[in-house]
Amino acid sequence: MTTPVLVAVAWPYASGSRHLGHLAGAYLPADIFARQQRMVGNEVLMVSGSDVHGTPITVRAEDEAVSPEVIVDRYHSEFVRQWEQLGMSWDNYTTTGTEHHARVTQEMFLAQLAEGHIDARVSEQLFDPERERFLPDRFVEGTCPHCGYPDARGDQCDNCGRTLDPTDLIDPRSKLSGATPVLRETEHFYYRYSDFTDRLKPYLESRKGWRPHVLNFALGFIEEGLLDRAITRDIEWGVELPVDDLGPGKRIYVWYDAVIGYLSASQEWAEQTGDPGRWHHWWHNDDARHVYFIGKDNIPFHALFWPAQLLGVADRLEGGALRLPDDIPANQYVTFKGGKASASRGIGLTIDEGLERFQPDALRYALAAAFPEQADTEISEEQIGARINEELVATWGNLVNRVLTMVNKNCDGAVPSPGPTTDADTALLDGIDDQLAKAGEQFEAVQLRAALRTGMDAAQSVNQYLTATEPWKLLKTDLDRARTVLHTALGAINGVRVMLAPYLPFSAAALDGILGEPSGWRRDELEVGRRIDKPTPLFQKIDVVAEPAGD
Ligand code: MF3
Ligand code: ZN
Repeated sequence: MTTPVLVAVAWPYASGSRHLGHLAGAYLPADIFARQQRMVGNEVLMVSGSDVHGTPITVRAEDEAVSPEVIVDRYHSEFVRQWEQLGMSWDNYTTTGTEHHARVTQEMFLAQLAEGHIDARVSEQLFDPERERFLPDRFVEGTCPHCGYPDARGDQCDNCGRTLDPTDLIDPRSKLSGATPVLRETEHFYYRYSDFTDRLKPYLESRKGWRPHVLNFALGFIEEGLLDRAITRDIEWGVELPVDDLGPGKRIYVWYDAVIGYLSASQEWAEQTGDPGRWHHWWHNDDARHVYFIGKDNIPFHALFWPAQLLGVADRLEGGALRLPDDIPANQYVTFKGGKASASRGIGLTIDEGLERFQPDALRYALAAAFPEQADTEISEEQIGARINEELVATWGNLVNRVLTMVNKNCDGAVPSPGPTTDADTALLDGIDDQLAKAGEQFEAVQLRAALRTGMDAAQSVNQYLTATEPWKLLKTDLDRARTVLHTALGAINGVRVMLAPYLPFSAAALDGILGEPSGWRRDELEVGRRIDKPTPLFQKIDVVAEPAGD
């Protein structure tokens, strides 16, 4: 039975270049998982897009004295180019700036308003007395009231991960003028998140197999009690409100609209395929599985606020109640020299810097080996280089090259037919099959780092087999046995490459050209007589002074 799997990936802000921490945090894990799920035969829909609203973008536009559109176009096209270079296999990568997205956002808003989950309230917000304007979210910085971090932003503290309101900040300062803000009354729509505490608690408690840090963080929030939050802002950039009760100068808050992207992008994809109703197969289907790939700073928005928004439309939209997240395997942070990677603070490599230094598959490999699945994980350029040379090239690239070269030279340039097999031959292939099954289970549990380890252990077992059987010597003494060994080694490689394919799409495509496309998540028997040409190496060694790869 095939399962419809929604691979929902955090929407990068089109506010600046993304770095390797973002790549390892959300985008790459999503792509690796999606590719494996397709190989298993599941119906994968992988969606995301550029998050084009919110103060991350308007703050930069103010800094550069250009319009937000200029910023958004610049970074959206940068991301699209990078996804291509990295081999990201999106089904739909769009933006939150489309008319379709605005319409879906407004429909959800109206449904929740009709259900009584949205109301208007007057509150006091920070106002810049010099610039004479309100200071939503990232237009203000100050000290975090929870952890004392001095550079917390008005929407969230980067240090402790708490979501904040600008008025929570101690010693707030305007990003625009540096002035100390004053309080001023303003009216906004609030989403009544508190309406959902009672339903979100059992929802979270019934989730099976979630990463402990994700579940604990979300449940901790619930214990404190969900607070109603403003879902509009005093800003000119964002989705327009579908009702005009508040008057001009208000827009929908970026986090309220961005998460709706998962739904609107699914619909947009269906529209593009020419089967506009197709999205229901993922969103209105008890057999579907929705997996959200995000960084840990996004946990409250996906584990609490987005489910509350989905529940809030009840069955007012076409097709009825919408599916809630099945799993949110959020990653922790990648750190460089002990600090959280941050493009704006110049910590760690940007995606472009990574792509300048490393082949895309090699970069994917080294990051996947260090995915911060359970804890913050330190990476460095030296370590990436060492992992590429000592693991990817030494264990896998050289193995493939060695075996293909020997087959090409000594078996008439074709897959040889095997003679009688030994226990060692059978044990090797059985071992590969076991590891394929094990990696498959690790993928189901979204343990992508462990599944890569399994694939590399399998590659290592082929190397050990070659060391034990020494086909290069047998070629001179017993050609038939040598060919059986090479047939077995090549057959084993044919299984290992399946396990590594989700991580290494470019070299996997090259191997597909040589060995044929795998029929699924399994080791296919090789076609005897299939042409094997003289190979070219799959990967290049990196020219670095290698430090030990660590763990
Ligand atoms: N733009 C946000 C960030 O980069 C993530 C948004 S995820 C979404 O942190 F689902 F809300 F779009
Ligand atoms: Zn904090």
